[in-house]
Amino acid sequence: MSTFTAPKGIPEYYPPESAGFLAVRDTLADAARRAGYGYIELPLFEDTALFARGVGESTDVVSKEMYTFADRGGRSVTLRPEGTAGVMRSVIENGLDRGQLPVKLYYGGAFFRYERPQAGRYRQLQQVGVEAIGVDDPALDAEVIAVADEGYRRLGLTGHRIELTSLGDETCRPEYRARLQEFLRGLSLDEDTRNRVEINPLRVLDDKRPEVQEQLTGVPLMIDHLSDTAREHYEAVKAHLADLGVPFTENPRLVRGLDYYTKTTFEFVHDGLGSQSGIGGGGRYDGLMAELGGQEFSGVGFGLGVDRTLLACRTEGLSVGDQARCEVYCVPLGEPAKRRLVSVAGALRAAGVRVDLSYGGKGLKGAMKAADRSGARYAVVLGERDIEEGSAQLKDLGSGEQRPIALDSAVDEIRAAVSGASEVAP
Ligand code: HAM
Repeated sequence: MSTFTAPKGIPEYYPPESAGFLAVRDTLADAARRAGYGYIELPLFEDTALFARGVGESTDVVSKEMYTFADRGGRSVTLRPEGTAGVMRSVIENGLDRGQLPVKLYYGGAFFRYERPQAGRYRQLQQVGVEAIGVDDPALDAEVIAVADEGYRRLGLTGHRIELTSLGDETCRPEYRARLQEFLRGLSLDEDTRNRVEINPLRVLDDKRPEVQEQLTGVPLMIDHLSDTAREHYEAVKAHLADLGVPFTENPRLVRGLDYYTKTTFEFVHDGLGSQSGIGGGGRYDGLMAELGGQEFSGVGFGLGVDRTLLACRTEGLSVGDQARCEVYCVPLGEPAKRRLVSVAGALRAAGVRVDLSYGGKGLKGAMKAADRSGARYAVVLGERDIEEGSAQLKDLGSGEQRPIALDSAVDEIRAAVSGASEVAP
């Protein structure tokens, strides 16, 4: 007999932890919905060329981390490593950009990157993302950042900060790139890094090794070489963020792992997570749509890591999603009691009460233990004598108080008790 294990580097969420996962995902998505973003469900895999072109051949994501395979028809497909390229493909293909602008979309789900697994770094990761396409307005950049911040705050997170910079536009970026390369070529670097200087020089700024960092004093920074348009845009984003009351730190050395960014870029960093501290990130990508065969439309968006955000909540001791599994736990003693309580449970569920029931003919002691473990506020106990008397016992599992309720009106009485309890709950 063989035993199976989950693939390496993939987090699984099961009760009770999975409730926290859902709470994080739903809270972040809800922040997007409240700002008018509509849901888009995307394919889990796409044509490999879409990511190569959209995300950039020189990025680690494309060159080292993609799950790429040939399908049975011999097409090269890739499990989506991120969401932005797929959203753009869908917007172009389905003509969503011919309607009202900006097109505002949000998405969620699993993404795949063949990274070295460690705490907070997975091969199947979960994100909630938004994209706002077709309007180049700095207020939209600020909105995107504020939506993410609002999502984190709703979860109760306080230990995160926003790092912000501008990566310039098509007029200032090439000039800056040449200037940066000239500086980096004068340093003493190993062969790999020298290659990176030629292919993706910005990434060198992100090199964590002290021997590289100490040579970077005086390195030219994009922020000091912005075109007038890019500078005005950046100043306006900062002003809007100030108006929104969203605090941020400027980090002119901020480097993102994907090639499509222009102008505003940002990362949400949480210091409680060790090296995998990026709980979310995003920015503007003004050339991406045209690059993928669409109109010359700008766009801005974010991807928030659900797994890492959940870890951040845990490090802050936040009890996200800790709602009890059910509100009422039914304890039937004997077959006739089971028939009655099964139907009471069904009617309560139909009325919106969360109900579980003790199955398998457990005795009173075992069933009451299960009731306690379920986190329910009330247990409904029904024995043969109770049926004869036309009543059931409603036990408040918090206070231990127990009182009989009429069996015929059990559903209404339990509903009243539950809604009374939730009204007085803190
Ligand atoms: P990203 O920075 O590559 O951006 O990923 C966004 C977030 O996903 C990260 O901040 C992190 O929280 C989470 N994440 C990424 N890789 C892993 C991993 N291996 N394990 C756990 N979590 C991970 C994007 O994907 C862009 N598409 C975001 C965007 C949307 N930019 C504009 N629009």
